[in-house]
Parts: sequence; C-alpha cells; structure tokens
Amino acid sequence: MIEEIIPSNKTAQSRAVMHGLSGFSVPKRLSEIERDHEERIPVPIEEFSRVLGGGVVPGSIVLIGGDPGIGKSTLMLQMTLQMADKNGVLYVSGEESERQIKMRADRLMRGGENRIKKLPDNLYLVTETNLEAILTHVKTVKPRLLVVDSIQTVYRPDMESSAGSVSQVRESAAQLRELAKTSGISVFVIGHVTKKGIIAGPRVLEHIVDTVLYLEGDRFQAYRLLRSVKNRFGTTSEVGVFEMQENGLKEISNPSEVFLAERMVNAPGSAIAVTMEGTRPLLVEIQGLTSQTSFGNPRRTPNGIDFNRLLLITAVLSRRLNMRLSEQDVFVNVIGGLRIDEPAADLAVAAAITSSMRDEPIRAELALVGELGLSGELRMVGQIDARIREAANLGFKQIIIPRGMQRKQPWPGGIEVLEARSLRDALSLAMVK
Ligand SMILES: Nc1ncnc2c1ncn2[C@@H]1O[C@H](COP(=O)(O)OP(=O)(O)OP(=O)(O)O)[C@@H](O)[C@H]1O
Ligand SMILES: [Mg+2]
Repeated sequence: MIEEIIPSNKTAQSRAVMHGLSGFSVPKRLSEIERDHEERIPVPIEEFSRVLGGGVVPGSIVLIGGDPGIGKSTLMLQMTLQMADKNGVLYVSGEESERQIKMRADRLMRGGENRIKKLPDNLYLVTETNLEAILTHVKTVKPRLLVVDSIQTVYRPDMESSAGSVSQVRESAAQLRELAKTSGISVFVIGHVTKKGIIAGPRVLEHIVDTVLYLEGDRFQAYRLLRSVKNRFGTTSEVGVFEMQENGLKEISNPSEVFLAERMVNAPGSAIAVTMEGTRPLLVEIQGLTSQTSFGNPRRTPNGIDFNRLLLITAVLSRRLNMRLSEQDVFVNVIGGLRIDEPAADLAVAAAITSSMRDEPIRAELALVGELGLSGELRMVGQIDARIREAANLGFKQIIIPRGMQRKQPWPGGIEVLEARSLRDALSLAMVK
C-alpha cells in the first residue's frame, strides 16, 4: 500500500493549466502547424544515437532507467560532455556533490582516442532537488539539454508527500514534460527503475515521457546494453552495446564479434544463432548442456531465453526426434548476458541441446536460424537477408535457414545457404560427422 495525498483544489487547478486544459488552447489545422527546422540534435555517441532513433528530438523527454550502479550517470555525463560544446547543457544532480561529478568528468576525459579533449564551457552543473529552483536555473542558464539525476530525488515544494513517492515522481515528471513541450528543451531524466518495475512505483513515469531507455547488463560483466522499450520518435527494441571501462562507456559497434570472442570451436553443446536486436542482426552463441537427472523431476534451466520456449523445444526434441530428455536436466545459456525474445533462435537452442546430448560438436563455421513448430518443422523468420549478410560478414561459411517460399532473387552471397524443412534435416546438416 502506498499513501497518496490528494492535493488541494488550488494545485488541482494549476495542474489543469499545466496540462493545457485551461480553456485557452486553440485548435489549429494540421497543415498550418509549422515544422521545426532542425528535427534532431545529433548525438556523437553512435550507439546511443541509434537507440534514440537518430539523435535527440528537441522538446522531448527521455527516461533512462536501470539498476543501481549500472552506469546511468556515467552515460549521461559522457553524452553531455560531448554535446555541450554545441548545445548548452544544465546537469542537475540530486544524488552526487559537484565535486563527485567533477571527479567523474575527469575520469571520463582521461585517456581514450575519440574522447573529449577539454571541458566544454557550456556545461553547467548544479546540485538541487527542489523542482522550482531547478526551473529557475533553467530560465537563467537557458540550456538546450537538461539532465535530471534522478527523478526520485526531485520534489515539488507545493506537495506534501516526500521526494521519491509516487505522487512526487509523477507530478515532477509531468512538470518537466511541460517544460520540454513548451520550451523545446530536451530533458533527460534518470530514474531508478528496473525493467520489471516496482509495483505502483516509478513505472508511472513510462506514460509521461516520450522515450524510455533501459541500461542493463550483468553487473559482474563489463557489457552494458542500452535498450529502448518505448519511443515516440523511433523504433523500439533497438539496442546499443557498450563496455564499461575505467574512462567511461566504450561503444561496441561490432557486438557479434565480441560475443563470439570466447567461443570454443568444436565443443559439443554450442550453437550460433542470428537474432535481431531492433534493426541490427546479432550473432550470439547459445550453449546447451544435458546431464542425467539425479533424482526427482528433470530440470529445465534457461538463462537468456524464455522458460516456456525451452519447454516447447525440449518437448519437440523428445517427441519428434525421440530424444530421451525425460531423464535429463537441460540447461541453456545465452552468452554475453543477452536475452533473446524472438523464436528465431529456436533452431540454435535445439541444436545446442542435441549437440550436448549426443556429445557431438556442431560445424564450426555454421550459423542457425529458424523458428520451431510443434510438429518439428522449421518456420521462416523475418529479416532473413539481414541475418544471412551478418553471418557472412563475420566469416561464417554456412547458414541453415528454414525452407520457405520460392524466392525470385538469390540469397546474399559470401556464404552457403542451406535450407532445411524440418528440425531433423537441419540437425543432420549441422552436426560434424
Ligand atoms: N574507476 C573505475 N573504473 C572502472 N569502472 C568504474 C570506475 N568507477 C566507476 N566505474 C563503473 O561505473 C559504475 C557506476 O556508474 P554510475 O555511477 O554512472 O551508475 P548509476 O547507474 O548512475 O548508479 P546510481 O544508480 O547509484 O546512481 C560502476 O558500477 C562501475 O562499473
Ligand atoms: Mg547515478
């Protein structure tokens, strides 16, 4: 239960004004509304820019969520350091002192090739949590970008509840949105939100903002994925990949190579899938392991794929290929801390499990793509050309794909494309023998 204090009539009224419901608005013809000259402010961090949909939209409000200590403040400071030369930036922090932020900035500027040479003049810093004071600072500094770190520390003095409460978070965010929409300032808000969200907690923010990005990753691994889950100005499910280093987040523009770097070729139980992360194909290693169940029910333990998907795949393997999985524990692991949600990786998962079960490796330079149907057939998946091209780019020699409809144009070159109708066919093509 979360206590929510109902605001007095006066604040309710000012809220109505704030939301443009005051009765002073005038309907306009769509054709008469002027377009902004510059539609996007370019972001020098390519991975970040792509996730945003190609730069920052003026007057937009973006929420950056993520687990504690994952690197949200680092990402924001890095971005503002690189953008502040061309656009004024006001960085508001309610969490760290100015010295702390300065220390981080110094660390970010140390070393590195394409990093910032000198501290930009147009980057203003303030530690403040009172929203009214923040708005006053915005009036004096007149930035093009405003960063608020974090929304949980900001409070509206006219409301009684404490900072971080649902109503404070919601109302503060709503006011920041008004600021963005009326002034054209782009606002970045950091929120302590995990993907699962906290019940009745900051998830309310997602409806208020234009774009929601999550920075996620294993805290014990250096990789960080920046994922867009809502975007009013671009596609969602776009992913940026970074590596956390001492001097900040380094972009990884060829993630497939990184994810495949530690692969042991010719080890049983390893298969390569080609998954789409937004518009970008990504090759990932999927590992499977089967081991005799010692007692009780056999276990199914997926890491990086959906549990029910794994159940389906093991059921198809048992029924259609007569594999005796009923007395085997099955573990599946997606390397690199990645999570695959699309069924296109089914075939690779099935191959990894089969390979472990038979103790036979899968061909070294082979990638697998395909969705598994309940009768053991392979089903076509989207964006197959992009997947084939990516596999070819990374030096794979063969790729197994589902046999689909007749195609007029040839498959992309540089790689041998093997079409398989069923899981059984695909596996006999995939195994080394
Ligand atoms: N000297 C360093 N060398 C390498 N990595 C560092 C160093 N200092 C900090 N980091 C990385 O930066 C991360 C903290 O980043 P940051 O403070 O931006 O996270 P945050 O998401 O803003 O956290 P919070 O939720 O606490 O505000 C650490 O977990 C660590 O991975
Ligand atoms: Mg922080």
